[in-house]
Amino acid sequence: MSFLPKPHGGKLIQAFNPYYDFSHINKELEIDAIALSDLELIGVGLFSPLTGFLGKADYESVVTNMRLADNTIWSIPVTLPVSYDTAASLQVGEEIKLVFQQEVYGVIKVSEWYEPDLDKEAIEVYKTAELAHPGVKRLYERGPVYVGGQVTLVKKPEKGVFSDVWLEPKETRALFEEKGWKTVVGFQTRNPIHRAHEYIQKAALETVDGLFVNPLIGETKSDDIPADVRLKSYRVLLENYYPAERVQLGVYPAAMRYAGPREAIFHAIARKNFGCTHFIVGRDHAGVGNYYGTYDAQHIFSEFAEGELGIKPLFFEHSFYCTKCEGMASDKTCPHSNEDRVILSGTKVRELLRAGTLPPSTFSRKEVVEVLIEGMKESATV
Ligand code: ADX
Repeated sequence: MSFLPKPHGGKLIQAFNPYYDFSHINKELEIDAIALSDLELIGVGLFSPLTGFLGKADYESVVTNMRLADNTIWSIPVTLPVSYDTAASLQVGEEIKLVFQQEVYGVIKVSEWYEPDLDKEAIEVYKTAELAHPGVKRLYERGPVYVGGQVTLVKKPEKGVFSDVWLEPKETRALFEEKGWKTVVGFQTRNPIHRAHEYIQKAALETVDGLFVNPLIGETKSDDIPADVRLKSYRVLLENYYPAERVQLGVYPAAMRYAGPREAIFHAIARKNFGCTHFIVGRDHAGVGNYYGTYDAQHIFSEFAEGELGIKPLFFEHSFYCTKCEGMASDKTCPHSNEDRVILSGTKVRELLRAGTLPPSTFSRKEVVEVLIEGMKESATV
């Protein structure tokens, strides 16, 4: 008997078929990197129960109610945008090859297409229509018409340096079972793992059997640290500071939406599909700029019954090293003031790294910082 949660919606969608014969299909649609990533993640079941890109009823329901039309919780629209010209040539029921850089990765069976209300999507999902928000900017750039329909993934994108740390949900589930973990906490990040991240991960691990460190490696904004550089830093950190038998590294090849609270729910659902029973939500999860309140991404979980979501969020307050406490602490556990705390903004840290200056070891492990400085130098030369 399995202790792991059932996939969202009840079953793990498997829409990968490398033998799918598409030789009779002439029409093709050039998709972007985000649609490719969505196609892959639908195909391998990470976005269960989705079997394709959202049709109109599901889309509108997700935007307005954070639920699919059948009432299943779903907080971020997964859509396939096309131009007006492309939309004019579509026919209901036809199959179209989904192509990225001259390679066919999938096939969609077109069930419908529709013009989304992008202003509404921006306001409901991102809580702002400002183009300064990276998720909103992308939303408006990506296209005026959405195509809905079931997909078949016919080819999996190459994972390059991530190959050994890309585990599909069916693999993570088997692995967690094999390890005998009855409770597993998932950790999302788009950053290097600094001491505050490590602190909340280990605090969570104190109460569960296993930790699934699950960094996002899909599209991020250009000033985030590149995923391949981050990967090296995760490897060195885990080697030196984490108990191998209780920690599993695996990547999450989704695009970052920067949708704060809504994305926290989305992230939790994907981790449930990986087989996690718990999910860490700290300060300003999936946030950007000042668009969301520090704990909005925690508050949103109270809108759903825990049993219905099927994964338990573990909330953490703003954490840091405190020189008076002489250890890691949080707003909840430390009585001292900000002067005693080692707090650096992401921007400040990137500035230090680019200048080759080591942030203090109370902020980030030395081994991690060295890898990042080296990586930033390399990425600056390309
Ligand atoms: S995210 O966009 O992927 O959420 P980030 O990589 O910064 O951003 O954070 C990963 C997780 O750690 C999120 O759950 C976030 O809320 C949490 N977190 C980041 N920094 C802190 C901190 N100093 N204190 C508490 N939680 C934090």
